[in-house]
Amino acid sequence: MMLEVSHLAVDHGPLRALWDVSFRVGEGERVALLGANGAGKSTTLGTLIGLYHPAGGTIVYRGQNIAGRDTADNVDDGIALVPEGRRLFPDMTVRENLEMGAYVRGKRGGVTESIERCYALFPILKEKARQPAGQLSGGQQQMVAIGRALMSRPKLLLLDEPFLGVAPIIIAEVMAALSRLSDQGVTVLLVEQNIHRAMDFVSRAYVIENGRSVLEGDRQALLGDPNFSSKFLGLE
Ligand SMILES: Nc1ncnc2c1ncn2[C@@H]1O[C@H](COP(=O)(O)OP(=O)(O)OP(=O)(O)O)[C@@H](O)[C@H]1O
Ligand SMILES: [Mg+2]
Repeated sequence: MMLEVSHLAVDHGPLRALWDVSFRVGEGERVALLGANGAGKSTTLGTLIGLYHPAGGTIVYRGQNIAGRDTADNVDDGIALVPEGRRLFPDMTVRENLEMGAYVRGKRGGVTESIERCYALFPILKEKARQPAGQLSGGQQQMVAIGRALMSRPKLLLLDEPFLGVAPIIIAEVMAALSRLSDQGVTVLLVEQNIHRAMDFVSRAYVIENGRSVLEGDRQALLGDPNFSSKFLGLE
């Protein structure tokens, strides 16, 4: 297993957000964490990258318990997060936003080379390189956010609702790019509220409810499980 999260518990101040979250992601796998608003999806990804320190549980990444480790160390060790809402610098150019992803990149090749790889994945970003990121469409901004995360050459890419506010035709384009990354060996952990969209991309998923993992399975098993559909009724 590339990543094995066991009984993760996380507090936001006095409030417990995660009570008992467990899941596993194999090397090269595509896995989704599904859940409603406030279920704890972003808290889980934030804890994996080191923004939140767990109150309990373990996060074993490539054989080492990294729970509570600094974000910079996690990024240096091959984990990258595409945050919820993209969090770009809107007044900075596309290229400058991409360069921001390189600040903790250690010794993994040149910045220019990494930017060229982003442009190869999303050619539109090369055309828009000198434009302020805030002027791009939602889908194009998501490409910048993904490109920025790729600047550190991650082995494990965490994506927090990457398709929110993205036009359907661009969703297909972003998914195709993520598939190419996955084919190149990047492991992908995706957080989504929309099951059908997630299931178009992943082979396995876990459902989080109120800070607890409550259901897991591969695509076919979950889509055929009446318990699964009822968990998500009203969410689509
Ligand atoms: N920084 C914070 N401070 C205090 N409480 C927080 C903070 N971030 C999240 N929470 C609370 O923790 C719980 C889990 O939130 P989280 O953002 O992880 O859920 P989510 O599944 O990502 O939801 P959404 O689908 O809305 O993005 C919620 O009750 C939320 O209100
Ligand atoms: Mg969230």
